[in-house]
Amino acid sequence: MTEKVLIISSSSRKNGNSAALAGQFAKGAADAGNEVELIYVEDIKPEFCKGCLYCQTHENCIIRDNMKNVLARVQNADVLVFATPVYYYSVSGQLKTFLDRLNPLFVRKNRFRDVYVIATCADGDVSAFDGVIKAIEGWIECFDGVELKGKILCGSVTAPGDINGNAKLGEAYRAGKNIN
Ligand SMILES: Cc1cc2nc3c(=O)[nH]c(=O)nc-3n(C[C@H](O)[C@H](O)[C@H](O)COP(=O)(O)O)c2cc1C
Repeated sequence: MTEKVLIISSSSRKNGNSAALAGQFAKGAADAGNEVELIYVEDIKPEFCKGCLYCQTHENCIIRDNMKNVLARVQNADVLVFATPVYYYSVSGQLKTFLDRLNPLFVRKNRFRDVYVIATCADGDVSAFDGVIKAIEGWIECFDGVELKGKILCGSVTAPGDINGNAKLGEAYRAGKNIN
């Protein structure tokens, strides 16, 4: 079955490590015949959520920025993939801002069911990803029937390109290929 896969890459380094994994996931999912879209938070430049809760009683967010075009794409995807560098033991500020701005979906009927997380960090210890997993699980918890289906975590990478040749690229490709 063809799935709509939306990959949200949140590092501002489009040539960076998490973006490389996101690209491989996208390739795998596309090779398996799925409809794949990869977006960069850096291009969307979402403003911070104001916490006004206007979105809980109105169709849209009160902030008129690029998130307006993104909301329906998130809402109508089957699979969401969040890619982030570890920043101070959590997700990037870019991803956190993006997730907060999905608040209009909190009161809507959404299609997405499966979530994958992709994360990279400099630390070699897998516990460095705990805060990322917790943050994504916290977001998922707020949407009925949504599940964390997979995690692709790559430590010991710092500079863009450090991930070249890493086996995790193959893992990301296979995860994308096997989403069904
Ligand atoms: C602001 C900032 C905070 C960071 N915090 C951590 C951290 O807490 N733990 C860690 O292992 N690496 C940390 N790093 C390193 C990045 O996670 C690492 O370089 C990662 O591979 C970057 O992914 P990217 O290439 O996709 O941007 C930090 C980097 C920056 C710029």
